[in-house]
Amino acid sequence: MALDSKIRPLPVYIALDVDTYEEAVAVVNALGDDAMYYKVGLQLFSAAGRSIVEWLRAKGKSVFLDLKFHDIPQTVEKAVRQAAMLGVQLCTVHSLAGREALVRAVGAAQEYGAASATKDDQMGILAVTLLTSIEDKTAQEIGLAKKSIAEHVRSLALLAQAAGAHGVVCSAAELQEIKRACPQLRALVPGIRPAGADRHDQARVATPSDAARWGADYLVVGRAVTTATDRRAAYLDILRELADAGYYERCGGMRHDDQRNHCH
Ligand code: C5P
Repeated sequence: MALDSKIRPLPVYIALDVDTYEEAVAVVNALGDDAMYYKVGLQLFSAAGRSIVEWLRAKGKSVFLDLKFHDIPQTVEKAVRQAAMLGVQLCTVHSLAGREALVRAVGAAQEYGAASATKDDQMGILAVTLLTSIEDKTAQEIGLAKKSIAEHVRSLALLAQAAGAHGVVCSAAELQEIKRACPQLRALVPGIRPAGADRHDQARVATPSDAARWGADYLVVGRAVTTATDRRAAYLDILRELADAGYYERCGGMRHDDQRNHCH
């Protein structure tokens, strides 16, 4: 395959949606040293707190802390500062917390990045627009029925962009519209399933290579890897599918041997 413009890095964050510190360590160990990207969400953080994030960082892993902060601006700012002090790479804030909360979150991440001697990069703030679990009926119940869900997602993404956020969390189905409306925003996409894999409770899923082609900058994969009989094989299959489509988990530095040798 010739080198072309679509070849680009596409980190695949593995969602550590487990109940204990030990289970999380077991998943990370099963995936091996070269699996570098992990998501810690509400379930694991409620169980294991900062210690599992510290363990991941000590092993050199890149961490996406997905706690979807949604509170008054001052509390969001202070929570973001704490996340930044943990050395995580990405952190979610709910856009429904409003412009000021987003701006202060971005400010706290920037301030910490500038102040830190150990971090070479500041933490990216990802805004959650509307949860992909929100459908028309739920939107109506919570008073969001005046505009379509797509319109809400678009205007919240524009708000996130105006606030200086690094990116948004969105479903694969929303990707192209968000990229059109907000070209500066990175898009992190969950709901990823290799062709033929169990969809679990995700209504709208996409394959890794489709999400990549539609413009994803980061993928989140949970159960397709963590509940597989051979987790490492499932993870490598995803990297292989992406590499065949011209996307690489990492460019420069350590790359996975199973990825094709096109990335510079
Ligand atoms: O197991 P699965 O691949 O479906 O995991 C998806 C992960 O992405 C979960 O951790 C879930 O919290 C997260 N997520 C999602 N949909 C969103 C936002 C986050 O599935 N809209």
